[in-house]
Amino acid sequence: MERKTTLLLHPYLILFIVALALIITDPFDISPVGGKEFTPVKNDIAPYKEVMQAWPADNLSRLGQGSLVFENEVFGPESLEFDLQGRGPYAGLADGRVVRYMGDKVGWETFAIVTHSWSKKLCMKGNDSTTHKQWKVEEICGRPLGLRFDKETGDLYIADAYYGLLVVGPEGGMATPLATHIDEEPILFANDLDIHKNGSIFFTDTSKKYDRVEHFLILLEGEATGRLLRFDPQTKTTHVVLEGLAFPNGVQLSQDQSFLLYTETTNCRIMKYWLEGPKKDTVELMANLPGYPDNVRLNDKGEFWVAIDCCRTKSQEIFVNNPWMRSVYFRLPIPMRYLARSVGMKTYSVVSLLNEEGEILDVLDDKKGVVMKLVSEVREAHGKLWLGTVAHNHIATINYPL
Ligand SMILES: *[C@@H]1O[C@H](CO)[C@@H](O)[C@H](O)[C@H]1NC(C)=O
Ligand SMILES: *[C@@H]1O[C@H](CO)[C@@H](O)[C@H](O)[C@H]1NC(C)=O
Ligand SMILES: *[C@@H]1O[C@H](CO)[C@@H](O)[C@H](O)[C@H]1NC(C)=O
Repeated sequence: MERKTTLLLHPYLILFIVALALIITDPFDISPVGGKEFTPVKNDIAPYKEVMQAWPADNLSRLGQGSLVFENEVFGPESLEFDLQGRGPYAGLADGRVVRYMGDKVGWETFAIVTHSWSKKLCMKGNDSTTHKQWKVEEICGRPLGLRFDKETGDLYIADAYYGLLVVGPEGGMATPLATHIDEEPILFANDLDIHKNGSIFFTDTSKKYDRVEHFLILLEGEATGRLLRFDPQTKTTHVVLEGLAFPNGVQLSQDQSFLLYTETTNCRIMKYWLEGPKKDTVELMANLPGYPDNVRLNDKGEFWVAIDCCRTKSQEIFVNNPWMRSVYFRLPIPMRYLARSVGMKTYSVVSLLNEEGEILDVLDDKKGVVMKLVSEVREAHGKLWLGTVAHNHIATINYPL
């Protein structure tokens, strides 16, 4: 009784409670997570301080010495590949095409598309397809993210965020779907792949809950419904290898194929899954990283390049450890870019080279974002590092070793 009276005496308090309730329940779906079943959970991430103290930052920001190439010619070239003749790069773009660079005379040409629904009219609207406007159509046009050539056949395997796992012959054209469903359920967000010597394709399915356009929500929520899958061409069947992963992203087999690595973007780490030997079928930590990893690629020496969107921050750490705060904060009816900015989510690129034990052999930073702001992949080829990006209109290169 007394309580009720107190409340009535404080109209502002009531107003505040109503406002808070509106924010939290967001009945008008205004907030970035409006209309979504957004339920933040605690994820399995190493303590910020411990990771940052151990990480060898590149004080000279040497990645800034790189240069941009193909500006305004490619938008969102997430993954880069070279074919068996060394031609390329090949890249999957935001407009749904896989393109390849055929030298200065020919330039870029369309190599493959992933769906009959693709049309130039819908998918390649000049500048529109280089902005977030493309997000509305990428579900139809496709979004090829991971690319790998089969070293025996020259076939190109593609992990597409909407069309699953596909393959196209060495001459390109319309890709053929290999895995779009598993146990009758659609694969929602295929992301990257690698090819085992016995023909099996290992690939990641980033989330069962959110698709690529909503990938930011996977990070914010901390949900772990991602999977590592395997497609067996002999039987044309797809199998769940690992599940319950937090934003599984890049996949890379080791040189002798005794293990594979996959990145868990939400947890800022690389994991190792053993395929052979005494630890077969077990998973262990390969390395904790200072930021959010994307793809991993092998170099000729059997070492691994990892692309990292850096860095974790102290304020993020508070959100990471307190799911309820994310639940409230990201329900504020304010566009995501402002919300993200105010918690210091400003990223720069870091690329790192690791050996098979997870020891860090080299780190290149681009702290000022001179060359590349969002790096998605590092390929070492032809005496250079080639850097892909999921959200900008260029590729970057840097001679390596420097
Ligand atoms: C980089 O800078 C940090 C602090 O600014 C310092 O502790 C570290 O020793 C430096 N590393 C190198 C390789 O110079
Ligand atoms: C496309 O965007 C670029 C960079 O923002 C700009 O320089 C160019 O003029 C635009 N082209 C068209 C046709 O709008
Ligand atoms: C190929 O190798 C992988 C990894 O060891 C294994 O899981 C898969 O069953 C193998 N596929 C065939 C057809 O032997």
